[in-house]
Amino acid sequence: MKWFLRLGPVMVLLVVVVFYLSLGANDRVAQPIAYNHKIHIESAGLTCTDCHSSVQSSSAASIPNLEMCSTCHSEQPISESAEELKLIEFVHQGTSIPWQRVYHVPDHVFFSHRRHVVIARLECTTCHGNVDEFTEPVAAQFLPITMDNCMECHRENNVTNDCLSCHR
Ligand code: HEC
Ligand code: HEC
Ligand code: HEC
Ligand code: HEC
Ligand code: HEC
Repeated sequence: MKWFLRLGPVMVLLVVVVFYLSLGANDRVAQPIAYNHKIHIESAGLTCTDCHSSVQSSSAASIPNLEMCSTCHSEQPISESAEELKLIEFVHQGTSIPWQRVYHVPDHVFFSHRRHVVIARLECTTCHGNVDEFTEPVAAQFLPITMDNCMECHRENNVTNDCLSCHR
């Protein structure tokens, strides 16, 4: 009984540490292909809207899939990368790439890219960071999607924080 009492606090500490470590791991999203934003903007000369094609016209920005990627990656690999071979395999199988979403508002919240990018003229970097410098897939939120973060910027810009403008 005595040894148990002495070990008790150590066990509690261990459980707490393991719990926090697992929380940290869940915060980062793993992607099926190690997509590199920097290469595509610098070497392939693409812009954000070439791939996230509805970012200026609707609420969702959209994530590109096979059709878009296969214009450059379909038969002969153009790089030395094993990740490109994975992509070509998806293209041959015709199965879409299961990209995992990193940024996502709950169903009860309305968010429009068009409103923020075209009307408010905000840069992508304000909410998403320097994605054009990312050599690894997007894994975590830059500006965390919380009600406080939305409201803080609205307050600074004199935009309404009426509950019903975001919760429709
Ligand atoms: C306009 C042409 C073009 C399109 C469209 C394109 N890529 Fe690429 N991709 C390139 C070029 C250029 C490279 C760099 C080749 C090299 O290593 O010089 C590249 C390299 C890659 C690599 C290897 C990366 C590395 O780290 O070396 C992967 C993986 C890749 N692309 C995935 C994708 C995916 C996924 C899509 C669709 C969302 C896509 N590409 C769309 C031109 C394109
Ligand atoms: C005011 C902050 C803000 C700005 C500015 C912004 N985004 Fe977003 N982005 C978000 C939020 C919030 C989500 C989650 C939206 C949802 O779940 O419907 C998101 C989601 C996304 C997604 C996930 C896919 C999708 O269909 O929504 C992509 C890709 C994206 N943004 C790209 C961009 C690009 C490219 C720009 C610049 C042209 C941009 N964003 C500007 C806040 C922003
Ligand atoms: C060649 C196509 C391509 C271009 C160009 C491109 N992206 Fe992406 N983007 C992707 C792909 C594929 C993913 C999914 C893999 C990942 O998360 O890295 C993605 C993911 C994202 C995400 C995370 C979306 C989410 O919620 O999971 C954001 C934010 C984003 N891109 C912003 C940008 C911005 C800003 C630019 C311009 C600087 C840009 N992208 C240019 C293909 C592209
Ligand atoms: C960096 C600043 C910034 C952030 C962060 C931001 N917004 Fe906004 N938002 C604006 C601006 C500026 C406008 C005004 C655009 C206009 O003139 O219509 C706006 C407008 C809106 C509107 C339209 C309001 C109306 O007049 O009806 C909604 C809805 C909205 N935002 C939702 C959101 C949500 C949800 C989030 C968080 C996920 C968010 N916004 C985060 C700057 C921001
Ligand atoms: C500028 C946009 C915006 C406005 C204005 C806004 N909300 Fe929210 N609200 C959000 C977002 C985004 C979330 C989701 C946050 C998350 O997932 O962590 C949210 C989540 C919630 C939730 C779910 C619980 C939670 O914390 O996730 C409740 C309840 C809520 N809001 C109530 C309200 C009330 C009441 C008002 C008016 C006083 C309001 N909201 C105004 C953006 C907004």
